[in-house]
Amino acid sequence: MSTTEYMKNLMKDRSIASITPTSQAGVKEICGKMDFSKKAVVVEYGPATGVFTHYLLEHMTADSELTAIERNKNFARYLQENTDSDRLKIHRDSAENVADLIDQHGHSSVDYVISGIPFSLMSEYIEKEHREKDV
Ligand SMILES: C[S@@+](CC[C@H](N)C(=O)[O-])C[C@H]1O[C@@H](n2cnc3c(N)ncnc32)[C@H](O)[C@@H]1O
Repeated sequence: MSTTEYMKNLMKDRSIASITPTSQAGVKEICGKMDFSKKAVVVEYGPATGVFTHYLLEHMTADSELTAIERNKNFARYLQENTDSDRLKIHRDSAENVADLIDQHGHSSVDYVISGIPFSLMSEYIEKEHREKDV
């Protein structure tokens, strides 16, 4: 996806919350903690343009599976059109529905969760919860 296209999505959807995708160095550092020598069931929240998705597909074993959950419809469509692997299942949905989504693929648990959801959104949610519940 071009930078202009990415920026257009960012302006419209505040849950993207980052002006650029994660760098290759960042992707490598995070995924470096994973064991790619064994079959694994992996979930990715918020893949956006797929920087982690592509790296994971490249390194995962042939019998591993990746479920990517992306809330933004343009990113979900872009990912669908720009990835070609039967190991990847893309859902345009919210991460909170992960249990139902992995269940659809016959899993009750997963080996790894890679989350692209910005902490800034989580803290807002937590603060809202705190305000509403007075905790
Ligand atoms: C900062 S971008 C990260 C993109 C990518 N993972 C990367 O590292 O470059 C955050 C992504 O999370 C998605 N997102 C935010 N909240 C989400 C949620 N509850 N469920 C699924 N995706 C979500 C946004 O649409 C956006 O694509």
